Amino acid sequence: MSSTQRLPMVVLISGRGSNLQAILDQSQTGQLPVEIRAVISNNAQAQGLERAHRAGIETQVLDHRYYPNRETFDRALMKIIDSYTPKLVVLAGFMRILTSEFVRHYQGHLINIHPSLLPDFPGLDTHRRVLLAGMREHGASVHFVTDKVDGGPIILQARIPVYPEDTAETLAARILREEHRIYPKAIRAFAEEKIRLEGEQIVWIKPLEA
Ligand code: GRF
Repeated sequence: MSSTQRLPMVVLISGRGSNLQAILDQSQTGQLPVEIRAVISNNAQAQGLERAHRAGIETQVLDHRYYPNRETFDRALMKIIDSYTPKLVVLAGFMRILTSEFVRHYQGHLINIHPSLLPDFPGLDTHRRVLLAGMREHGASVHFVTDKVDGGPIILQARIPVYPEDTAETLAARILREEHRIYPKAIRAFAEEKIRLEGEQIVWIKPLEA
């Protein structure tokens, strides 16, 4: 992709959308060479939809509760996403487990951010679990999405120390700041073709530093 081209992408959200905001901010200031064609939410109340509206980005709501199963919902979602012909699909707090059909369809073009140092602490409630396990270090990971939940190849990680006085809330706040820093950075690397997925392996043109 040349420097004048912007990477077409779609962002999927379910809630607050603070990562979406970080991406919007950087794309609006020209730091991030992307064109966000749509923000799609499975939750009509998602605060992130407001953020997209404010930025003048098209939004779509697809409520999973109207679908009999995961397969039919994911197929409907794929149809909407594909109508925007994105080169990258960004999961930013999209609280759904995806079918293998969906994941295979976007393989190499689907990324996620997770609030832990994967492969440690996949799944929900990571900050509380990190504290319970007595970890001295915590973090966030941006990864390509494959069939394994929170298990795809890692693009970028940010690490923070865990202090004795930390609570799940203080950790969440510090991790979120890191997420807002590394997610746009990873997207930028993809947009500039510095990374790509081949099979289950990431090919690095130039290693990224968090
Ligand atoms: C973030 O902690 C992200 O790592 C996880 O869901 C949360 C989304 O937050 N996947 P926001 O909606 O981007 O504010």
